[in-house]
Amino acid sequence: MIENLFEKVVSLSKRRGIVFPSSEIYGGAGGTWDFGPLGVELKNNVKRAWWRSMVQLRDDVVGLDAAILMHPRVWEASGHVENFVDPLVECSNCKHRFRIDDLPDGDTLLERWRTGKIELGGVACPSCGERKLGDPRRFNLMFKTHRGPVEESASVAWLRPETAQGIYVNFETVAQSSRRRVPFGIAQIGKAFRNEITPGKFLYRSLEFEQMEMQYFVHPDEAAAAFERWRAVRQAWYAELGIDPAKLRAREHVAGELAHYAKRALDIEFEYPFGWKELEGIHNRGDYDLRRHAEYAGKDLTYFDDATGQRFIPNVVETSGGADRGTFAFLCAAYDEEQVPTASGGREERVVLRFHPALAPYKVAVLPLSKKAELSELARGVWAQVRPHFMSTYDETQAIGRRYRRQDEIGTPLCVTVDFESLEDKAVTIRERDSMAQVRVPIAELVPRLHERLGP
Ligand code: GAP
Repeated sequence: MIENLFEKVVSLSKRRGIVFPSSEIYGGAGGTWDFGPLGVELKNNVKRAWWRSMVQLRDDVVGLDAAILMHPRVWEASGHVENFVDPLVECSNCKHRFRIDDLPDGDTLLERWRTGKIELGGVACPSCGERKLGDPRRFNLMFKTHRGPVEESASVAWLRPETAQGIYVNFETVAQSSRRRVPFGIAQIGKAFRNEITPGKFLYRSLEFEQMEMQYFVHPDEAAAAFERWRAVRQAWYAELGIDPAKLRAREHVAGELAHYAKRALDIEFEYPFGWKELEGIHNRGDYDLRRHAEYAGKDLTYFDDATGQRFIPNVVETSGGADRGTFAFLCAAYDEEQVPTASGGREERVVLRFHPALAPYKVAVLPLSKKAELSELARGVWAQVRPHFMSTYDETQAIGRRYRRQDEIGTPLCVTVDFESLEDKAVTIRERDSMAQVRVPIAELVPRLHERLGP
């Protein structure tokens, strides 16, 4: 158990150029985040690992990249214009605004709001402590904008609050063009936007984020079994990439909590430093989305199965993860501190991000023991061999111990040290991040030896 883990992860992220607040020189934009040189590598690796497991290694899922701006009727059909609302409460004393579930005992209050039995008279404002909270108002979370130069209702455009709708409206085109038969899935990674009342907790809840979503189209009789399969696949994915299974759990949604489209929903939760919270949602959306688009667009979106002679509206099982929330979970899970011996016989603390190699921003750091010209030349030659194969870095400043610590702190799994003996024996030392064990390998064999340790 690491104390103040949240503060440590946020501070390390800022200090090492992983993630920092957007528009910081203007005081920050609030609820939006920028990914620095290491953060963009990390998040890209999370997305790449997801795509690899969901598309590359499967023969029943294909990819898609749909536009963010869609026809405005899409959001009427999807139910978002009417139902994608949060209960907003304002304190008449201090004017602070909250989501109901951010108030003390918020989950119970949310449940009561959903069932229409809410009374906030006795609840203290979390900001000023006065009991002057107004009645909850329905607040639509979608960002509204306009196409073209005239701001009139005919030109309304919405920033998508989920990527899923781009998949449903393309279901038929993708099925036909890729000659897919139900059951099959369509996967997509892309930006989504939500005008959250209370963004916060670092990347956990922001206004702009990326989703990694997959919609699996199945015969209605197979939806329940597909739901169970996907829930297991998705929970295992986080564990395979290094999250301790004890920090993952599944939580079923209760009736009043279900989103407007869901027949059944389950959250894969992670134990963040501020408690168990949703990491990814698994939803059985039934035929809701295709039925509604068929109705609103006036198109027949039924599917004819020529093997059985049946015509039906496919049901959808959705896996919906957040790339940013996922990246944050991987950061928390990887963060570690330990006491290690120093060269002078003492002890010091090292901070280490124990990322799975597939997620680490840099896989390899090449470190010459000194800045002397002949060593630099050899080391740069070694780096030139490594670079085409692995995202890597080169560092020749400060003592070697300090440089190892710098790489540990950003999670680089392997350091390659070039020393004066390397000039003679044409060999280098590979040093492992977690065990700190060192092994000498010939330069000629370096790349295959790194591949052995780092995987594909
Ligand atoms: N298409 C279904 C859907 O969007 P959701 O449970 O509302 O379902 C899915 O969102 C995932 O998107 C969440 O589990 C989370 O990882 C991510 N997500 C949702 N809102 C977010 C926000 N404001 N900031 C960061 N990630 C968010």
